[in-house]
Amino acid sequence: MNTLYLKADPEHPDPEIMDQAASFLAAGELVAFPTETVYGLGARADIEAAVERIFAAKERPPENPLIIHVNGWAMARSYLADYPPEVEKLVEAFWPGPLTIVARAARHVPAAVRAGGPNVGVRMPSHPVALALIEHAGVGVAAPSANLSGRPSPTSPTHVRQDLDGRIAVILDGGTTGFGIESTVLDVTEKPFRVLRSGAISLEQLDAVLPRFFSTEILRQPPQYQPQAVVYVFDHPKLLLPVLDEAVQTGKRIGVAFFSDFTLPVPAALEIRCSGLEDYAARLFEILRAADEQNLDQLFLEIPEPTGLGRAIADRVLKAAAGQRLG
Ligand code: TXA
Ligand code: MG
Repeated sequence: MNTLYLKADPEHPDPEIMDQAASFLAAGELVAFPTETVYGLGARADIEAAVERIFAAKERPPENPLIIHVNGWAMARSYLADYPPEVEKLVEAFWPGPLTIVARAARHVPAAVRAGGPNVGVRMPSHPVALALIEHAGVGVAAPSANLSGRPSPTSPTHVRQDLDGRIAVILDGGTTGFGIESTVLDVTEKPFRVLRSGAISLEQLDAVLPRFFSTEILRQPPQYQPQAVVYVFDHPKLLLPVLDEAVQTGKRIGVAFFSDFTLPVPAALEIRCSGLEDYAARLFEILRAADEQNLDQLFLEIPEPTGLGRAIADRVLKAAAGQRLG
């Protein structure tokens, strides 16, 4: 298949372009599109054959359900059988934005979207291109992240092309995404509500809206990408510096990504100095892809305190490292 590239202005997407993309969706084709978190790979939620194509294109295991992207709470409700009333407070506070709500699915939600389960995830993205696509489609857009299964989520159209060129009909190019890590996935089918995946909205932010409603235990985190390089995690440069010396002396190709204020004492093949946690979140998946492209032997990632946005970052950093921590 020849993948069509369509440029979409990230602030004011051209209605003709969005119509064109929506007509591919109506024909049962797949369209990759930017959201404020990462790129999504969309199919119309009401065309089950199209939804099944997502699993084939990504090589995604069929037991992993998809999020339906909606243009507001009214559309979201049409996919839900039932939800606790407090959910509306969360929607008011965080939509449009990176909060996915998992609740009991309405009967008409295709089994492929739910991966056969009783629940469905819904979220209203804030990215103008994502919203315009849903608007022009006129229905919800089922979409996982637009990467091959097992690869880091894509934060730029280049990442989408690397993974899915020739496998999908359209890539809507709206530039790089904002947050760089995925939405927070919240299960509201039981109390306390549970974060299934930490993400761009922190537990502290949720708690400020509905105090004492959330389990602090984070369950069933999905697997995350691990680069070819051996990944080490450090929480203080003091632990890093002697190890770096040794790595460089033994001729290793190393990469270091960090957000604290210090200077690397040795040259690194990949040195990513981030201005803070938000910048680190936005660049983390790019760093993991770059580690492979540059054939690094060792990648050193600074890990933040697991509070606020740091929790979602720490979670992904630890997964990338399969738990190897310096010190
Ligand atoms: O930011 C995001 O969430 C991006 C953008 C494109 O919206 N999407 C995304 O989708 O990351 P995906 O499929 O790569 O990750 C969604 C996560 C998966 O871990 C999936 O298991 C979980 O949400 N999820 C979705 N529907 C669910 C359901 N019905 N029950 C439990 N978990 C669900
Ligand atoms: Mg994903």
